[in-house]
Amino acid sequence: MTPDSVFDHMWQALQPVGRVASTGGYRRFAWTDADLSAREWFAGEAAARGLDLTVDRNGNQWAWWGDPDRDGPGVVAGSHLDSVPDGGAFDGPLGVVSAFAAIDLLRSRDVTPHRPLAVVNMTDEEGARFGIACAGSRLLTGALDADRARALRDDGGTTLAEAMTAAGRDPGQLGRDDETLRRVGTFVELHVEQGRGLDDLGAAVGVASRIWPHGRWRLDLQGEANHAGTTRLVDRRDPMPDLARAVLAARSEAEAHGALATIGRVRVEPGGTNAVPSLVQAWLDARAPDESTVRAVVAGVARAAGTTAHEESWTGVVEFGAGLRDRLAALLGGAPVLATGAGHDAGILASAGVEAAMLFVRNPTGVSHSPAEHASRDDCLAGVEALATVLEELTR
Ligand code: HGY
Ligand code: MN
Ligand code: MN
Repeated sequence: MTPDSVFDHMWQALQPVGRVASTGGYRRFAWTDADLSAREWFAGEAAARGLDLTVDRNGNQWAWWGDPDRDGPGVVAGSHLDSVPDGGAFDGPLGVVSAFAAIDLLRSRDVTPHRPLAVVNMTDEEGARFGIACAGSRLLTGALDADRARALRDDGGTTLAEAMTAAGRDPGQLGRDDETLRRVGTFVELHVEQGRGLDDLGAAVGVASRIWPHGRWRLDLQGEANHAGTTRLVDRRDPMPDLARAVLAARSEAEAHGALATIGRVRVEPGGTNAVPSLVQAWLDARAPDESTVRAVVAGVARAAGTTAHEESWTGVVEFGAGLRDRLAALLGGAPVLATGAGHDAGILASAGVEAAMLFVRNPTGVSHSPAEHASRDDCLAGVEALATVLEELTR
């Protein structure tokens, strides 16, 4: 098989994993059966190439070509295989598939890396189940406290510790993992672009410059349960109007500040059509070019809802190192350099002092976190070619 057809084969094998028939989107949440199938797929691809599979204390999977303990630190490419609710096929998997395909390409050209090279599948990048995005890389670098992580609960009340135990992993191992970090000299994450920047520029592949600071906040809007048909309006303590004010404020504050703010998830107790709610919880995702703007938006939304915003996670601005960034852009023939509002494990590693860079692949509609997310096969293969070029250079 040619490297291109192996790419197609990998893509097809992953396609049914965690796919929701009714929407065509993916639900690959951390430590669910779908996630375990994706991890099995990863292990199979590693074995098929004779790569050494290791799983670190936090469940991240690494497939090494060469020995990073003897000859490291090495160069790592990859991304994640989990998804948001009804996510697209590309966000995450494209980076993992492309990393395996880039190794195939190097081998087909008889390129022997002079540094160990690995493919990684980072665990729970989206935080769709337990609420904290990039949980695998945050735990790895110590940015997320292990006790806090173990106690995180999904919507059904299952803790991360319980979910890991059920999946045959030891949650007692969670935490900063210096043995694993020591192996990673440079991390390159290829990712589908989550915007139309490359399409506007007419380029198939670009390089990341920075990631906007962003975070997630929870608003707890308290009410009092009561009968919808008998409770006079003046007697109600209904938190729903507060939610409405929060949603409208998210839009107006974002517009006023040149930011982005989203309330994409709410939980209503008790959730009856004929009952005034006793509690509404809403999750606010806010992002902007600088931290003070994000904070101002969050404060404005909380003020409008008459409550405080509980910070569940925060990612400060990430500036990818200019040296590596510009070197890669030049190596790729003057590839465009773009900023993004999307978070990535590469950003968490960069913030922890690991040399890191990102490649983006053109997304003609810019749509992401949706079943409609797309990149053409030609552009995906251009991404593999670019990644192979970068890995060859970095392992020279
Ligand atoms: O939410 C994000 O920015 C990313 O896609 N995890
Ligand atoms: Mn994503
Ligand atoms: Mn992603």
